[in-house]
This record gives sequence, structure tokens and C-alpha cells, in this order.
Amino acid sequence: MASGNAIQSIRGMNDLLPDQMSTWQGVEAALRNVARLYDYSEIRTPILERTELFKRAIGEQTDIVEKEMYTFTDNNGDSLTLRPEGTASTVRAGNQHGLLHNQTQRLWYSGPMFRHERPQKGRYRQFHQFGIEALGWRGPEVEAEVIMVGERLWRMLGLTGLSLQINTLGSAEGRSMFRASLKDYLTPFEKSLDEDSQRRLEKNPLRILDSKNAETQKILENAPTLQDFLERKEREHFEMLQMLLSSAGVQFEVNSRLVRGLDYYTGFVFEWVTDQLGAQSAVCAGGRYDGLAEQLGGRSVPATGFACGLERLVELVSLNKANSLQAHPDVYLITQSADVEGAGVRIAEYLRNKDFKVVSGFSSSNLKKQLRRADVSGAAVAVIVPDGYALESQLMAKPLRGQGEQREMPESDLEKFLRGCTDQLPLEDSE
Ligand code: HAM
Repeated sequence: MASGNAIQSIRGMNDLLPDQMSTWQGVEAALRNVARLYDYSEIRTPILERTELFKRAIGEQTDIVEKEMYTFTDNNGDSLTLRPEGTASTVRAGNQHGLLHNQTQRLWYSGPMFRHERPQKGRYRQFHQFGIEALGWRGPEVEAEVIMVGERLWRMLGLTGLSLQINTLGSAEGRSMFRASLKDYLTPFEKSLDEDSQRRLEKNPLRILDSKNAETQKILENAPTLQDFLERKEREHFEMLQMLLSSAGVQFEVNSRLVRGLDYYTGFVFEWVTDQLGAQSAVCAGGRYDGLAEQLGGRSVPATGFACGLERLVELVSLNKANSLQAHPDVYLITQSADVEGAGVRIAEYLRNKDFKVVSGFSSSNLKKQLRRADVSGAAVAVIVPDGYALESQLMAKPLRGQGEQREMPESDLEKFLRGCTDQLPLEDSE
């Protein structure tokens, strides 16, 4: 019996156990692969940063900075924070290492992020993001590219049912005029707004547009919209983006209420949402943030990017039972007796040299039991090394999935046979 107080992990911070890893690794391989196809390069930044970085980048009045950061003072008296997202660090690193001087960068990252939110399904305190950031491009083309990366990723993961919502926030000036106008409109209704919205009215009225409260939503129906404050060139930019997306066959919906929870956005914003994950519907989100590099002390650099929540992607992949990610073995190797164990080891190694994933069953039990185990393993083919096997004699290959027939064959025919049986096997990371 365990003693009374066995130590547990921290609430909202999960262990990822071996039976989950094949889906995680499949998702991660697809992420790396999609980044490679669009020529994004990986960047890894520290998990701890100065608190100031996130205050300046994400905004002092945002939920993340006000309520959700893991912040502490270290032994030197410096205020440090576990990163709640990856964009601020990426731009900080770009500035610091001169990656953004008169050059463009396509960067990606993946790793744990930390937000002290109320944990629930799809929302954790340690979660993982995959993000891409395209730095140095001003036009709508790069925005369309960022969307295409997402769309390709869903295809690679076999996901359907994700819908794209887009909006534009316009310039900082337009937004501040809109902010003032929204505040004027909402102030007479202050008492009827939900509690969070009342608090936001003074400092961050734009976030009220995000409110899920029905009464607040009703009040918002007649509120001014951001679109009323767009300048002509911003409108044209957004129209051009929509044209690019349409001509690439991407379906989207313009959601003029979409404002996002981070202050650095300066134009195009978007979210990919699903109705398969309950309340946590955003799988991937991002937009343009042209002011951030300068805000962090660098030169002005136009930028666009997104981040996906990996827990949500993995959950979606599991729900969709996307077969391409199940990392089943190709071969389950059965040796019929201890005498042929040596041949079994040699054949298993030979097949691994040919890049097949092989599980050795060893000859610990009878053939029937071993075949049952082979079936449970999900392997495509059971290869049986019969009792008395010598190099010139025949192996038995038994397809366990699909239509193929059980056959005897010499070792020299095995590779070709297996290729035929394992065509549909997992997309391995091609890097
Ligand atoms: P975000 O919307 O805060 O944006 O987060 C992006 C995604 O991370 C969300 O859509 C969601 O899938 C996932 N996520 C966020 N919080 C949690 C959580 N507590 N638990 C599980 N998943 C979560 C950003 O972080 C921006 N940096 C995106 C970006 C990149 N914009 C431009 N470049």
C-alpha cells in the first residue's frame, strides 16, 4: 500500500504517458514536416524570460499578464516568468542576435508554455505550442501563406471540421479611436454588463467584444464595429487577403468580433476553431504584429504568425482516429523455438536495416499465443521463423491487416513482400 500522501503532479500540468506518445510523435513529425515544406527554420529560446518581456509584448492589461503568469523573483532579485507563449521570446531573440536586420526570417518553435488558468479539458497550466513566425513581410501574401501552413497541417493530420475565422484590427490609431467610441457606447450600459466586462470597460474595452455573456452580447449588437474605423488601405489589404485565400480554395468566415487576447496584434487576426473540443474551441490562432520588434527595443519589423495548442491537436487527432499517425510496427517476428532464436535476431536486424519497424516476440510461448500477441501489437505482418529454419529454407509471412494471403517464401523475397503489405503505414518524418 502506498503511504498516505503520495506526491502528485501539479494541477493542470500533465505527464504524457507511453501510450499517448505515438500520437504526440506523429503530430510533432507532421509539424516539423510542414515547417520544412514552407522553409521555416527552428528556433529554441529559454523557457524563463524577464517578466518585463511579456508585460511589454502581451500588454499589462491582458488576462495573461494580469492573472495567468508564473512569475517569481530569483536570488538576484530579478523578476522572471515562465513563458506563457512563444512570440515574445522569438522576437526578443531575433532582435538580440541581429536576425531581423535587413533580412527576412521564417521561424518555428515548439515547446511547453505556462499559464495559470483554471484547468479543464483542453486547457492546462503547462501546455505545448507549435508556432511559426514570418518576420519581414508586409503584404497580405505572407498572411495567406501562414493560413496555408495551417490548412496543410490539418490535411497532413487527417483532420476535418476545422473552420477559419478572420478579422482585421486595423492600425493602432484606428483602434484607439474605436476603443474610445466603444467605451462611449458601453458606458451607459455599465451596470448591465457582466463583471469581467465592467472591469475591462475602463482599460481594455475591446476585450468586451469577446464576452460570452448573453446580456453583454445583446448590448453589443448595436455597438460600433472596428470595421467603421478602418482606413482605405487597411480595407484594401484585408480584401486582397480574402481574395488570395479564396483563390487558394481556403474557406473562411469574417468575424468582426474576433479581437484576440494579446495586445501586440496590428491588423489581420485569425483563429482556427472546432466544435469537437467543447469550450476550448481554438486550435490555432495568430495574426499580424508589426509593432512588436520595435516595442521590444529593436527596429520596426513587419511580422505575422500563429501558434497551435498541441494538446488540442493531439485530442483532435485521437477523436478523428487519424490512422496515418498510429505508429504500429511493420513486422512482428515470431520464432517457433529457441533453436531458431539466432536466425530470428539476425532477420529482425536485417529488416530494421531496411527501415522496417520490427517487434521481436521471442520464442517464450507457443505459436498460437504469439500470433495473438502479434495481432494485438497492430503489426502489419507476422513473420514466422519455423522450427529447424536454415538459410535456404522458407519463412512464413502472415499479413495481419488488409487482404493479403499467408505465404511461404525465402528470406530474399521478404523485403519486397513487406513493402507491398506496409504501403499504408505511417508517414514517417521525412527529414
Ligand atoms: P494564443 O491564442 O494565446 O496565441 O494561443 C494559441 C493557442 O495555444 C490557442 O489557440 C490554444 O490552442 C493554445 N492554448 C493557449 N492556452 C492554452 C492552455 N491554457 N491550454 C492548452 N492550450 C492552450 C498565442 O499564444 C500567440 N503567441 C499566437 C501567435 C503567434 N500570434 C502570432 N504569432
